[in-house]
Amino acid sequence: MAEKLININLKIWRQQNGQSQGKMVDYPLKGVSTDSSFLDMLDMLNEELVNKGDEPVAFDHDCREGICGMCSLYINGEAHGPDRGVTTCQLHMRMFKDGETITVEPFRANAFPVVRDLVVDRSAFDRIMQKGGFVSVNTSGNTQDANALPIPKVDADKAFDAATCIGCGACVATCKNASAMLFVSAKVSQLSLLPQGKVEAKERVLNMVNQMDLEGFGNCTNTGACEVECPKGISLDNIARMNREYLKATVTID
Ligand code: SF4
Ligand code: FES
Repeated sequence: MAEKLININLKIWRQQNGQSQGKMVDYPLKGVSTDSSFLDMLDMLNEELVNKGDEPVAFDHDCREGICGMCSLYINGEAHGPDRGVTTCQLHMRMFKDGETITVEPFRANAFPVVRDLVVDRSAFDRIMQKGGFVSVNTSGNTQDANALPIPKVDADKAFDAATCIGCGACVATCKNASAMLFVSAKVSQLSLLPQGKVEAKERVLNMVNQMDLEGFGNCTNTGACEVECPKGISLDNIARMNREYLKATVTID
């Protein structure tokens, strides 16, 4: 598709800090290349704002290639915008029409408080990971070679698919209950499917789910919106697997 320059009307959430009231502010932007990414477009806006002596819009980003999960924007009512299977940094301006009004908001959930403008605090995910999103490995020099453990291909594939979760939080932002079940279930599944993860499986699922509840995420009511908006295509099957793991852990006596 040939490059075009389009004019857009941005409606962006501005909020000084977590204590202040936020509001939508209009920013017309002219001459945006359809080849540029959504974040390039925000850079362009910020350059204009800084040149005018105004405060630039704060937004999260890091890798800008769909890996780190930092770019958490709600665009035109959808987490990561109107494209499928992409993060905000991978979203191109060719997805929008000349003259279009584009609303940009932060991911909204009680467990993701707004820090400033479009930046939210997603450290709740870090605290869930600290409760079990790892395997304990003997590093004394007697560590077993990972390839010594035979793993059925089908399990390896499912574990790998679960491991592609980048912790972006789009599943939470999309869910009407602000549930973190898709994220937590991906992190539980990537380990519980592998022999290395089975040793701590029971503590992992109990502790991670408990932390998820403590952080104030909502309950899953199986609407499936999370799977639709997940940029990595994490499957709802992981939630079913985590529920089985949780039940097993609660009825098993050591
Ligand atoms: S499950 Fe998908 S939407 Fe949720 S944090 Fe992981 S990658 Fe993001
Ligand atoms: S900036 Fe890293 S995934 Fe978008």
